[in-house]
Amino acid sequence: MSGKKVLITGVTGLLGKALAETNSNHELIGTYLPKTYSIPYYDFATETLDVRDREKLLELFQKYRPDVVIHTASIGSVDYCETHKEETWDVNVTGTQNVIDFCEKFGAKLIFISSNAVYDGEKSPYTEEDKINPINYYGQLKVEGEMLTSKSSIDSAIIRPILMYGWHHPSGRPNPVTWQIEMMEKGEGIKMVDDIYCNPLYSLNCADSIWAAVDKNKKGIYNIAGKNRISRYDFSIEVAEIFGFDPGLVEPVPSSYFKEIAPRPKDASYLVDKMEKDLGVRALSSREGLEHMKANHHAKTHAST
Ligand SMILES: NC(=O)c1ccc[n+]([C@@H]2O[C@H](COP(=O)([O-])OP(=O)(O)OC[C@H]3O[C@@H](n4cnc5c(N)ncnc54)[C@H](OP(=O)(O)O)[C@@H]3O)[C@@H](O)[C@H]2O)c1
Repeated sequence: MSGKKVLITGVTGLLGKALAETNSNHELIGTYLPKTYSIPYYDFATETLDVRDREKLLELFQKYRPDVVIHTASIGSVDYCETHKEETWDVNVTGTQNVIDFCEKFGAKLIFISSNAVYDGEKSPYTEEDKINPINYYGQLKVEGEMLTSKSSIDSAIIRPILMYGWHHPSGRPNPVTWQIEMMEKGEGIKMVDDIYCNPLYSLNCADSIWAAVDKNKKGIYNIAGKNRISRYDFSIEVAEIFGFDPGLVEPVPSSYFKEIAPRPKDASYLVDKMEKDLGVRALSSREGLEHMKANHHAKTHAST
């Protein structure tokens, strides 16, 4: 299979880094937000880009003429989206429209990264056929991005990852597993909710699914997740066990314990049949993903490309 020119927005994000590490045969161009402390360490072309900047987007499309754009860049903090509606609309929705416009103009395929936040969490496990009904602003922004993608004339696929974990880029934000490891290395206990469920997704397993969608030229919607449904508390116990910490440091609490700003779906877990059958990627269990992460410890500080 011949390689394509693939532009990845948000290459310093958890998923962007995983895509960089699992790429086998494509020519990559990665973009990241201009910040003084955000310096990618990749061995392929990287460029700064704010997706609100149409002039810079035009410049990048003219320079690289990508065959495919994997649009991972977004503001992903659910509470930040709830309290900064104008800014997060500009980045997550208008930014997506900007990317779509240039894909249209230059004939590139788009892989839009959505989320399980498009569901309300009342009727799990979800398949791609189930009704979407977001209960927070972040979820609404993802629905808008999906609608813009589907109604455009470009070739596209929509990927909906669930809660992701893995080694993040040195400049990236922590995820539940790296946060827990950091706390436990300091000997600090954590409180974890025992009434919220999902099937946690290892970032490299998500990236493999996206590369399969690129290589097989798939279109349509894909719900991407780990194999098993598990509570956030039980998942934290697995993290402690696998990374060699005392599971007694994890205290179960009900979700009402935390006063969060945005509402969260209680259980937006997935069935992964389409991911496995159509993309041909086996969904890893949470234990398998955590074991791989532990063995892949060098990826914490170095790109493994
Ligand atoms: N992580 C999860 O559990 C999860 C679950 C479901 C769906 N998703 C979705 O999956 C995608 C990837 O998630 P992730 O966890 O990899 O995200 P992440 O770690 O928060 O990374 C986000 C990336 O977007 C970039 N970015 C932010 N604002 C930007 C802007 N205005 N213009 C250009 N780039 C911008 C960031 O750049 P800097 O690093 O330079 O700031 C970073 O590279 C996102 O669309 C997210 O909503 C994530």
